[in-house]
Amino acid sequence: MKQDSLNSEILIIGTGIAGLTSAIYAAQSGFQVNLITKAKHIEDNSTWLAQGGIVYQEKEKDIDSLIRDILTAGDGLSLKESVQVLAKEGTKYINDLLIGKAGIEFTRCEDGSLDFTAEAAHSDRRIIHSTDATGKAIEKGLLKLVKKYKNVKIFRQHIALDFITPHHIKDQLAVYKDPEVYGCFVLDLTKTRVKKFYSKVTILATGGLGQVYKYTTNHPLSTGDGFAMAKRAKASIINMEYTQFHPTALYSQSRPLFLITEALRGEGAVLKTIDGKEFMKKYHSLASLAPRDVVAKSIHKEMLKNNQPYVLLDIGSYMEGDKIKKRFPTIYQTCRDRGIDITSRPIPVVPAFHFICGGIKVDLWGRTSLKRLFAVGEVSCTGAHGANRLASTSLLESLIWGAKSIEFINKNKHFFKFKIKEAIDWTTLKKEESDPAVLNKAWHALKDIMWNYVGLVRNTRRLQMALEELQDLSEMIEKIYISSRPDQNIIELRNGIQSALLVAQAAWENKKSRGTHYRVD
Ligand code: SIN
Repeated sequence: MKQDSLNSEILIIGTGIAGLTSAIYAAQSGFQVNLITKAKHIEDNSTWLAQGGIVYQEKEKDIDSLIRDILTAGDGLSLKESVQVLAKEGTKYINDLLIGKAGIEFTRCEDGSLDFTAEAAHSDRRIIHSTDATGKAIEKGLLKLVKKYKNVKIFRQHIALDFITPHHIKDQLAVYKDPEVYGCFVLDLTKTRVKKFYSKVTILATGGLGQVYKYTTNHPLSTGDGFAMAKRAKASIINMEYTQFHPTALYSQSRPLFLITEALRGEGAVLKTIDGKEFMKKYHSLASLAPRDVVAKSIHKEMLKNNQPYVLLDIGSYMEGDKIKKRFPTIYQTCRDRGIDITSRPIPVVPAFHFICGGIKVDLWGRTSLKRLFAVGEVSCTGAHGANRLASTSLLESLIWGAKSIEFINKNKHFFKFKIKEAIDWTTLKKEESDPAVLNKAWHALKDIMWNYVGLVRNTRRLQMALEELQDLSEMIEKIYISSRPDQNIIELRNGIQSALLVAQAAWENKKSRGTHYRVD
């Protein structure tokens, strides 16, 4: 059977804030866009789960202090040019797209002005938010807007398999070409059919890889697909050892772990041991508002020292009950549903994997090392976060680079003066189904390896074990992958293992502790 071919000028993979921003600006510029997501519901992604907010630097004169905070959090490894873009250009896009075109309602004070909150390591209150569900408000607003554009075709339940690259096109001379991307092989999950999505430009916005860790705040669909695809296509990938653990996820049996936003500490909540003792002052002068990596490591130390499975985050002693309910309605309700009234009882919290600071290397416009391929959002590494990301800069980075990728494409119309040759058919449509019991066990093994050996605290021995065990797992899953019918589970697992290997390898190679990469040998 001939495989379906779909053409567009721009193919965008991923429907979080980064992908939707690119899609909207591309649509406004008149491009034909195919927008794909593996999710059944378009909003199923980590943007939806983002709570805290987005940095909005209103006053020109305060930009330098924002730059300083980003650089300090990044522990000396941030790329200054990217930090400048992050600090200077965000407000323009928030005004234009989020507040302007999408009409997103951020929380306002009684006089109608935007309400600003604080989070760890910010020297100023400069974060705007939509109560404690900022990501949800943004995703809803952008989705409503993108659906208005006739030149954006949205494909749900379509999972990217691999980029179409020169060696896939029927041209013997393609081997002499520089690596470039002509779109993607995509599996339509509703029909188990592979389609070829051809495009002149591809924008990857697939988000992070949190699901390779046992404990994570990331969405269940964050399985590292983009990193693994980029690795297979030989794109340049950097800084993968810088894995950020959020200090405060709700200690519970549910997965993913429910995030307890840093904004709680920004509004006065304090970390305590189970017997009620404050402990952060002895680790950092900013105490509970120290940079995220410092807080996560300190909590980990306290848990080990006291042999306790969690620490406590106390907001009830520092904010009135009614104010808590109004400012943090989602957290109040979620904890309440689990039997904790946060207005009178502290919240049991643990660190959990939250964000990867590294990723596919991109420039100030989102260009990767592969021609015609851009990467935006968490899957990319702009260098702005260095070794540790400052709170509430990830939605911002996604927004800015989502927009700037289209600005670049707009200025460089030569991308479109080009005819793509037909690609070979995808050949791994085998009959046999993979065994879910085997895959399930492999997922558990992957998550355990990453949590125990490539977690908050690393050493040579652990990393050596991680690499050996991940390699074995990878070989086993590769055999299953090539002999069975591709389905979402095996595709995600294979991608997860390959992206975990990128993290473990980078952590193994880098002997120096810095920011989120903490080695004790
Ligand atoms: C949070 O709300 O604590 C998370 C914000 C972020 O990851 O930047």
